[in-house]
Amino acid sequence: MQRSGTMSFKATARAGSNIAFIKYWGVADPHLNIPLNNSISMTLGALHTTTTVEWDVAGYLSADQIVIDGVRAEGPKAERVTRHLDFIRHLAGDRRFRARVVSRNNFPMASGIASSASAFAALTMAACTAIGLSLDRTQLSAIARRGSGSASRSIFGGYVEWERGGSDATSVARQLFPPDYWPLRDVVAVVSTNEKTVSSQNGHALALTSPLNSARVDAVYGMLHEVRNAIALRDLEHLGPLIEQDALAMHAVMMTSRPSLLYWQPGTLEVLHAVRRWREEDGLPVYFTIDAGPNVHLLCEPAFERELLRRLQTLSSVRTVMTSGPGEGAEVIDQHLF
Ligand code: DP6
Repeated sequence: MQRSGTMSFKATARAGSNIAFIKYWGVADPHLNIPLNNSISMTLGALHTTTTVEWDVAGYLSADQIVIDGVRAEGPKAERVTRHLDFIRHLAGDRRFRARVVSRNNFPMASGIASSASAFAALTMAACTAIGLSLDRTQLSAIARRGSGSASRSIFGGYVEWERGGSDATSVARQLFPPDYWPLRDVVAVVSTNEKTVSSQNGHALALTSPLNSARVDAVYGMLHEVRNAIALRDLEHLGPLIEQDALAMHAVMMTSRPSLLYWQPGTLEVLHAVRRWREEDGLPVYFTIDAGPNVHLLCEPAFERELLRRLQTLSSVRTVMTSGPGEGAEVIDQHLF
């Protein structure tokens, strides 16, 4: 790895979360975090994580100090960050340095939004910059992938594809289209704010136990070209059914794993049925996708967002709504958190 000329030991980065149109579910290589299939997502401009990392070159710290949303991280959460920092320390050849990490999400962690994507993208960019590694986005994407699969996509802005690949050099994301190519809206209907019972990290290991998994992966490979094309043509009526099919296929895999994972709540179904009704009876062009949780992401053109928000207010199980369009990739910013 190349070191940049000017050494600075503190850096701050901001990265958006992302919503996958074609999902990452299941790992082929858990050590390298190589997925079973390519995935395609939109990076979210309005829902992001900001992280400051300072490497303790003076040697005051005996362990990494990690604060997330104002709370000192401990246990598995802190260990996961430290493991990622270990990898970056290893790349930089500075294994002794501990780090101070302060991270803040601009959306509630328990909202079911994939905070690991924005968190590990921001952490990767801040930690690598602060330790003086000069890397391009492809290299940062590979490093972020080690921390969290979906974080590899949040390094890039707009519409992004993560190539499955088979190594650090090949399992990386790339931008398909920039954020301003298509101002699609993601309207998140939050039906539950409980922490999920099984993290996606543990869920990925179960995908291979489902008899439906290989059928889903085959279907994804039959769909990727169509999905890229539909985005290229800004054609939501073509893209929407493909997105819904893969979200349902992923949840079918989850439900038929051993043990079975059931992320949906009654509110999830209320939103799904309502969206289908609005589409079929009233012609409202809105399509859904669901991550590893109960909340429903609704995709629509900007012209239909207001009407969608109005209708969501009439559903008893929708507690809050968050909205975002496509945003830029991870970036280094000047405003440190400490
Ligand atoms: C359902 O990237 O959160 O949101 O690599 O263990 O951090 P880890 O998993 P993660 O998995 C994302 C799962 C998903 C689908 C997706 O975003 O592609």
